[in-house]
Amino acid sequence: MLLHYFCTQMDITCTKEERQLLERIAAAADGINMPCYLIGGFVRDKLLGRNSKDADIVCVGDGIALANAVAATFEPKLQVSFFKNFGTAQIKLNNGFEVEFVGARKESYQEHSRKPLVEIGTLVDDQNRRDFTINAMAISLCKDDFGALIDPFNGVGDLEAKIIQTPLDADITFSDDPLRMMRAIRFATQLNFVIEEKTLASIARNKERIKIISQERITDELNKIIASKVPSVGFDLLYRTGLLEYFFPQMTLLAGVEIIEGKGHKDNFYHTLQVLDNVAYRSNNLWLRWAAILHDIAKPPTKRFEMGHGWTFHGHDALGKKMCTPIFRQLKLPLNEHLKYVAKLVGLHLRPISLSKEEITDSAMRRLLFDAGEDLEDLMMLCESDITSKNKQKVRRFLENFEIVKQRLKIVEEQDKIRNWQPPIDGAEVMRIFNLPPSREVGFIKTAVREAILDGLIPNEYDAAYSFMIQKAAEMGIIPQP
Ligand code: CTP
Repeated sequence: MLLHYFCTQMDITCTKEERQLLERIAAAADGINMPCYLIGGFVRDKLLGRNSKDADIVCVGDGIALANAVAATFEPKLQVSFFKNFGTAQIKLNNGFEVEFVGARKESYQEHSRKPLVEIGTLVDDQNRRDFTINAMAISLCKDDFGALIDPFNGVGDLEAKIIQTPLDADITFSDDPLRMMRAIRFATQLNFVIEEKTLASIARNKERIKIISQERITDELNKIIASKVPSVGFDLLYRTGLLEYFFPQMTLLAGVEIIEGKGHKDNFYHTLQVLDNVAYRSNNLWLRWAAILHDIAKPPTKRFEMGHGWTFHGHDALGKKMCTPIFRQLKLPLNEHLKYVAKLVGLHLRPISLSKEEITDSAMRRLLFDAGEDLEDLMMLCESDITSKNKQKVRRFLENFEIVKQRLKIVEEQDKIRNWQPPIDGAEVMRIFNLPPSREVGFIKTAVREAILDGLIPNEYDAAYSFMIQKAAEMGIIPQP
């Protein structure tokens, strides 16, 4: 019955190539008389009808020997990479699909380390040590029951009920490997599942154990949460279980509402999550999603209550931009062009909104075009996502004003071509004309020319820029050199 059940599933969800690969592995294992099973993510994803890029095989015996036997069935023989200490081996097919082989094991963990003491075990031992019931299902690749589903913890039931729970006592599973707390929240977010009550309570109880996990691994899971369809689900769970506090305290500071003289401000944590979901709905760009997470990050340190005005967060855009580098460093996110992009959007996130409130001048438009450059569309997406008021009329008014700003930006850009614009006179030319070494004066003159064009004081043309430059330099006592 089980055999039939799973074979039916496999026919539905495995590609022909995957099916052939599994049969090839089964034949190689039979050749060396070694029982082996598909396990973990591949089984889960196939039952869910999702695609897989890799498969894990657990065998009762030496995983490296099985990997070699499978690799030898390919012409030419595939390369096997292996980690002798862990008894694991990996092959990569020509189409990029990866298969990992590991001997079945029984593990026990020590308190201060993720490194387990490993003993050889049975398939059941191996399933017991897995993180969640939905990841502990195995499919036999043995000759006599090929295709049978071995599901001791009713993972299929949990897949159907959309539940994440540990196979054994959750405190043991999480304490053994605290990264699993992040994984539970990641799977709940990715798959739109619910974390079972006892499992969730255990995360809150064991949250401190996250300290023994490297930041790189935590951030890897965090990015998978952020890349999900509705990332707020994961952040809400991270916050409520107390995990977020351990690795991203700046974000938890956004939570809460303070009330003075009957005036409260919005809860900036939940506002940020709403903006993040709004951005996620519009774009898959991970870094635009990071900009959403960080756009208001400096609200707590800039928060003031001003008599007669209420709550203000003056300068949270500029301070937020500055906070991006230490936060990226703390979270071990890349300190490269992605950081620059996120910091730029955080720094500019109020600009389009303020334009939509004011009388719009062409020079303000030009400045925004120049400052945002090629990231203007992303900035506009972030700003639209930032409108989370519950007042429908207010939202509509904002969005209408926004449309006007967008139209005007388009017109100004068509006229002036400011976005990838370089001023007609650069620093090298200033140095040559006045025979100056690199210096503050050169920077001052160059910037004055650029600003004059952006402000519309002079046209965007070489001759006008040249005359303006001569005049500015003269005011500083600098004259052209022959
Ligand atoms: N596993 C575990 N504890 C961990 C990591 C992994 O028990 N901390 C087990 C689970 O059975 C998991 C399998 O190892 O299904 C493979 O892990 P991995 O490849 O990291 O994750 P997948 O479950 O395959 O999911 P994804 O590919 O989405 O990360």
